[in-house]
Amino acid sequence: MVIRPFRGGDEASLYEVCRRTAASGEDATGHNDDPDLLGHVYIGPYLRLEPDFALVLADDDGSAGYVIGTPDTRDFEARCERSWWPPLRQQYPLESYDEGDRDFRLVRLLYAPHTPPDDVVAEHPAHLHIDLLPRAQGQGHGRRLMTALFDRFRAAGAGGVHLGVSRANQRAIAFYDRLGFAPVADTSAGAILMARRL
Ligand SMILES: CC(C)(COP(=O)(O)OP(=O)(O)OC[C@H]1O[C@@H](n2cnc3c(N)ncnc32)[C@H](O)[C@@H]1OP(=O)(O)O)[C@@H](O)C(=O)NCCC(=O)NCCS
Repeated sequence: MVIRPFRGGDEASLYEVCRRTAASGEDATGHNDDPDLLGHVYIGPYLRLEPDFALVLADDDGSAGYVIGTPDTRDFEARCERSWWPPLRQQYPLESYDEGDRDFRLVRLLYAPHTPPDDVVAEHPAHLHIDLLPRAQGQGHGRRLMTALFDRFRAAGAGGVHLGVSRANQRAIAFYDRLGFAPVADTSAGAILMARRL
């Protein structure tokens, strides 16, 4: 396994890593009618708008994981509003979906993305997401990816980092705890926000 910078052409394989880890760390393939929606919400904007903060874990079989993020959450949100969400809102009109549809929750996020509270962002302006396929888990690669991204965040001037994690994903919560994160807020979506200083 090697850690390398993201490069154009990785998108499809990273969307697949996202899909295969999106059910609180387990495979979410087949959970949605549109297989790209998860990636459009959770990783696409980072690959497009923050490519310098996207690292890929890969072996001979291809992409096995990633860590992605931004050193400045509020600036990133503003740029997503300007250029990432508008074409997706045209592609996925909210009025075409009913609350019972399998894709409704993700489509609604295109219109009302999760946003952390001001007090969390003030202390911890960076945020990140990390996902590894099962073949890459439990071997220290997660820690290596996080450490490499922390270095990039520090170089960009960020003093702290936060992330969101589903309460159901106890394994990830234990991992983040081990990496120095502590809970800082609850969200209405069954997730908690965790944060640490850099
Ligand atoms: C969660 C995840 C990123 C962790 O990465 P990993 O490579 O498996 O973790 P590492 O092997 O680097 O472990 C790093 C440290 O966390 C600890 N840790 C990892 N999982 C743990 C667990 N379930 N319980 C307690 N400690 C744990 C390790 O013991 C290790 O400690 P050390 O470095 O101090 O010895 C990875 O398993 C994953 O991608 N899972 C599926 C997707 C997911 O859940 N992503 C998070 C969504 S919010």
